[in-house]
Amino acid sequence: MKLLKALKGEAFEIPPVWIMRQAGRYLPEYRKLRQKKPSFMEFCLTPDLAIEATLQPLRRFDLDAAIIFSDILVIPEALGQKVSFVAGEGPQLSPIDNDDALKNIATTGDKELFSRVYEAIRGVRASLSKNIPLIGFSGGPWTVLTYMIEGKGSKGKGHLKALKLSLENPALFQTLMDRVVETTIEHLKGQVEAGADVLKIFESWASSVPASLRESLLYKPLSRIVASLKDSCPNTPLIVFPKGLPSEALSELRKFIKTDGIAYDASLSPEVISRNAQETIQTGPDPSFLLAGGVPLKEEVRAFKRAFSGQPYIFNLSHGIVPDAPIDHVHQMLEALKEG
Ligand code: CP3
Repeated sequence: MKLLKALKGEAFEIPPVWIMRQAGRYLPEYRKLRQKKPSFMEFCLTPDLAIEATLQPLRRFDLDAAIIFSDILVIPEALGQKVSFVAGEGPQLSPIDNDDALKNIATTGDKELFSRVYEAIRGVRASLSKNIPLIGFSGGPWTVLTYMIEGKGSKGKGHLKALKLSLENPALFQTLMDRVVETTIEHLKGQVEAGADVLKIFESWASSVPASLRESLLYKPLSRIVASLKDSCPNTPLIVFPKGLPSEALSELRKFIKTDGIAYDASLSPEVISRNAQETIQTGPDPSFLLAGGVPLKEEVRAFKRAFSGQPYIFNLSHGIVPDAPIDHVHQMLEALKEG
């Protein structure tokens, strides 16, 4: 398991590789499978379909990890906040933005719902090669709360509504935060018990938190999750993705959490990442290079390989693969990575 070795600190000439959102709409076989359930949540929570979606990219590409097909929004769904996906609009939830709305949120996650994710994990583990680790995941608590409070993606508004609620009604905000933190801990542990070999926490909206609120909204909630996992699953490596966090904030983050890997997006240069790294690095080209393909993609892949040569490094994209990425460009990217 090359990826696990990299997370333990080993450096490889050809780094292990997987691709964020490697299962998804850029694959025709995914689009076909997806037609079996109109509701995306239902699709995620049907074990046979989730197993098949997880395995699809592994059949096409020589990847060093699978990631369980699920979504970060299973947490609000499990807490009783119905999530739907409107084409072209993204996720829709009825927002929890006042004390009354909190009545619709359960104190603990729905065990039956989570058990469907665990069934999918067991199914994938049973048919996946023993050499390929399976990644379980959750959203970071701030990222999940932005969807629960705003009821949708922020569309460039910077999560002002969620930030405002944290300042205006801290008691409500803290109650929600506590429930999300506790439910996330339970769900990540459940994924490890079912067979996940690695965990990743996607704090995809870390960049919307102002510096003065990072301790309370980002670091402390994340530290509760990381400490609890390191206590109960000490042998399961963890990757944290604090998307868009400026480099000067990384040393602050490290005061609160100790993790095996940090995933970086394209807002930090490979040189800055390399110089400051204390954990295994996970990053790679911006998804636009994958869209363009050809020489710019190959050169970017080589630049990332060079930048982290001799350091423990997992190759990935800096953010998720987009639906119109050509499959041929994925092959180009992997070829450029694997040439000596
Ligand atoms: O292959 C994999 O990486 C595993 C599956 C996975 C999905 N979502 C499937 C998905 C993972 C790891 C996620 C994480 C996720 N979900 C994040 C964090 C990662 C990131 O992007 O920063 C976030 C913020 C979400 C919430 C979410 N889910 C949004 C905003 C959307 C709509 C956007 C879009 O691309 O349409 C989703 C839907 C979603 N999750 C899809 C997939 C494949 C597309 C829906 C479809 O097929 O109809």
